[in-house]
Amino acid sequence: MQKALNDQVLMEAESSQAYLAMAVWADVQPGLEGITKFFYQQSDEERGHMLKLVQFINERGGKADIPALPKPMKNFKTVKNMFDQFLKHELKVSSSINSLVSLSLSEKDYATHNFLQWYVNEQMEEESVARTLNDKLELIGDDKSGLYLFDRDILNYRSKS
Ligand code: FEO
Repeated sequence: MQKALNDQVLMEAESSQAYLAMAVWADVQPGLEGITKFFYQQSDEERGHMLKLVQFINERGGKADIPALPKPMKNFKTVKNMFDQFLKHELKVSSSINSLVSLSLSEKDYATHNFLQWYVNEQMEEESVARTLNDKLELIGDDKSGLYLFDRDILNYRSKS
């Protein structure tokens, strides 16, 4: 279980780096202030997810392993392309959390199972946000005024944890 939780530490750290790279990409495009802020905040949130795991592992008598990180994707063709990556990444995280939940049950590790419920809920929320934003971008297509409004309103769609 400890090894699997440490693998999840890596995944959350990778998420934080991936969203930081997205924030930077958006930050240097003209007029994407909302999207930039969204990904800076998302990156911070993922670091929080990582820390929560690190502290849980240590509290349970294990030792968290702080990993080296691969380079994140830094260039995106379009805003839509970046949000596709965002959704894809969150789906990968959800599947990894689900595997952890299965493992905790098969090992009868009920404390970890209980701890993981927070992540199950969080993933439902994050997937839903990522899907909503992708649907909106699908509707907007190449419409610049639509993108203007999307960027203006995006912070209303952030998940809360
Ligand atoms: Fe912590 Fe968005 O996965």
